[in-house]
Amino acid sequence: MPKLYIETVGCQMNMLDSELVVASLRKQGYELVQTPQLADTILFNTCSVRQHAEDKIYSALGRLKHEKKKNPGKIIGVMGCMAQKDQRLIFERAPYVDLVVGPGQLHQIPSLIEQIAAGAGQQLEVSLDRTEGSRTAVEQSFESYDPLRDEQMRPSPYQAFVRIMIGCDKFCTYCIVPKVRGPEQSRPAAEIVAEVRRLADEGCREITLLGQTVNSYRHTAGGRTSRLADLLHDLHEVEGIGRIKFVTNYPKDMTDDLLHTVRDLPKCSHYLHVPVQSGSNEILKRMKRGYTVEDYREMLARIHAIIPDAAITSDFIVGFCGETEADFELSAELLREGRFKNSFIFKYSERPGTKGAELYPDDVPEDVKRRRNNELLAMQTKISEADNQQFLGRTVEVLVEGPSKQNRGEGELLQLTGRDNCDRIVVFDGQPRLIGQFLPVMIYDANAWTLFGTVVTQHAGPEVYSL
Ligand code: 5AD
Ligand code: SF4
Repeated sequence: MPKLYIETVGCQMNMLDSELVVASLRKQGYELVQTPQLADTILFNTCSVRQHAEDKIYSALGRLKHEKKKNPGKIIGVMGCMAQKDQRLIFERAPYVDLVVGPGQLHQIPSLIEQIAAGAGQQLEVSLDRTEGSRTAVEQSFESYDPLRDEQMRPSPYQAFVRIMIGCDKFCTYCIVPKVRGPEQSRPAAEIVAEVRRLADEGCREITLLGQTVNSYRHTAGGRTSRLADLLHDLHEVEGIGRIKFVTNYPKDMTDDLLHTVRDLPKCSHYLHVPVQSGSNEILKRMKRGYTVEDYREMLARIHAIIPDAAITSDFIVGFCGETEADFELSAELLREGRFKNSFIFKYSERPGTKGAELYPDDVPEDVKRRRNNELLAMQTKISEADNQQFLGRTVEVLVEGPSKQNRGEGELLQLTGRDNCDRIVVFDGQPRLIGQFLPVMIYDANAWTLFGTVVTQHAGPEVYSL
């Protein structure tokens, strides 16, 4: 049986892509192994959002040089965003790489591997650059790839990612995504519903809808236009699915209609990830985000008014070109005021090929970026901790995902982990048979990242569930 080793970095889109590639290779008889040394084929699913993610892949490739010399028959492949961005450069920097495949050509991987094994030499398959053809031609070159699933590649068999759109047309000036993931294209609603039905039949309980700007979803078929709110209504009908999440949201498309839908449909998670990126209008303008801080504040107020228990999370970039101390303070102020459940903080990383790299010098020194990053992180950790402390004594509904990382062993009583309706991580003791169920858990302790609790019976209030 041929053996496959796959390493995945980056976002949930990449996790899903890896799942689909593994599923297609399993159909060819491959089995997964845990180290590159044991594998016949080694694949890296890569990310280009920040330089650091690329550096890590190039060093991992560097470490395989010797391995390939020892075993020239071993096939090494680079797939995903860095493959699309760097293309032949990957062969130049690591001439022993056999395969470079962009995110729009993943379905070709099994046949490309076959060709390489048969002696065809290095293979490169990528999509058209956005300036290389008509909109339709470029769209067609970024093919969505969703037919096969592989349970073992998911966070747990009860949770699955479902892509509802690919690409992005927002062209924020710092971001490489519109270039490497291509034009924004929504999938037909009927196709998505059918996929979710299949997942539910396989025992999946929670789905996370994926899109770079998931709330911009719009698809027209047979005279009916579906927006995200319509799709949520359709998916809510699917039996077996108990929870529906969606990421990542674009602030300008957070309509009242969508928020009412999230409030009114009990299966919709109240977790809303809506990145702001900066608290300074000057920086937002240079980022070409398309909204002001006032617009974002107004959106936060609307979310709180319509969904009072919503858990809102955000992304911030520090050290974007020209960010002064005063601009940074505005981001800090917004982070404090927003009281986000969590914020992901990133140091600006200039991406060749973006408008940002072309127009604005990367002029904030690394040590200033680091300090600003640490300051926001420290502030957010305090906020997250205070937020989680409010849950002491309260009961939340948890989808049990499996044994916690500290406790992977088999046994009667395990330390289990899961998430509540707002994506909070909850850890508690229970039997393995609870895995895959929705259960009420009463919280007795909390830190910034985790809630600790005890399973309670649904009908008998605080009585402890028979462990
Ligand atoms: N540098 C730093 N962070 C970036 N992000 C996107 N592009 C860059 C970049 N060039 C961040 C944004 C986005 C998240 C996924 O990554 O905050 O929301
Ligand atoms: Fe990048 Fe902006 Fe599109 Fe998000 S909305 S993927 S940050 S270009």
